[in-house]
Amino acid sequence: MEGRRSALRTAVVWDALLEMLRDRNLAVGAQRPLQVIDLGGGTGGLAVRVAELGHHVVVVDPSPDALASLERRAAEASVSASVRGVVGDAATLLDVVQPASADVVICHGVLEVVDDPALALTSAATALVEGGCLSVLAAQRSAAVFTRAITGHLAEARALLQQHETASGNPGSVPRRFSPDELHQLLASAHFTVTEMRGVRVFTDHIASTMVESQPGASEELRALEAAVATDPDFMAMATQLHLLATRR
Ligand SMILES: C[S@@+](CC[C@H](N)C(=O)[O-])C[C@H]1O[C@@H](n2cnc3c(N)ncnc32)[C@H](O)[C@@H]1O
Repeated sequence: MEGRRSALRTAVVWDALLEMLRDRNLAVGAQRPLQVIDLGGGTGGLAVRVAELGHHVVVVDPSPDALASLERRAAEASVSASVRGVVGDAATLLDVVQPASADVVICHGVLEVVDDPALALTSAATALVEGGCLSVLAAQRSAAVFTRAITGHLAEARALLQQHETASGNPGSVPRRFSPDELHQLLASAHFTVTEMRGVRVFTDHIASTMVESQPGASEELRALEAAVATDPDFMAMATQLHLLATRR
């Protein structure tokens, strides 16, 4: 059941990423595998799916435990030859990968936890070839404030609202959250041009899983609904996460 719920949560992201990989493949003009870096890729759920498409993926993550899980996952999917795990940090990415070596950098769920999001994005830009693509997925503050408030955690909601003042500082034990403007500014400062932005998990997190599981067709309906509102500005502020695609200038 958790697998289905997780697939529902990531469907909008995966569909957009798939299209970006196809476009990048066309742009490089050859049927060669793309060189992909999954920065903070953890246990490799996404990296393995990308490798299954025929691309080469390097997962850079500070957690040796996560990378051990990645190795097992890649072996189970028979893509060990195309996925490599490297212990590393976003701030010092260039210690473990060559500059201008990647067609695509994936940076999902990472800007929230690194010491310096701006530095992480600058490292990602340096690792990319000119015109290379970046996929960023980051938690959105407005949705977190809303969820805290409607569940009665009012002081927490107000504290979160003020978190933007420290958006570029160390998040400490609290994961950082972003507004669309903050993400756009961070990406622009790191020499990226944002091409698309989607809201992710607009409804999914607010619907009881028992409701989705007990109604025939509800899961497919919810997936279609999420896809329908992902780029609708009226629903953007309610999205738990923001997914931005960008190219390196
Ligand atoms: C929320 S998980 C996201 C994992 C994966 N990208 C995903 O979307 O499922 C955050 C990941 O960032 C990694 N991480 C933490 N600090 C990091 C840093 N300074 N540089 C790179 N990755 C980091 C963690 O080890 C963890 O795997």
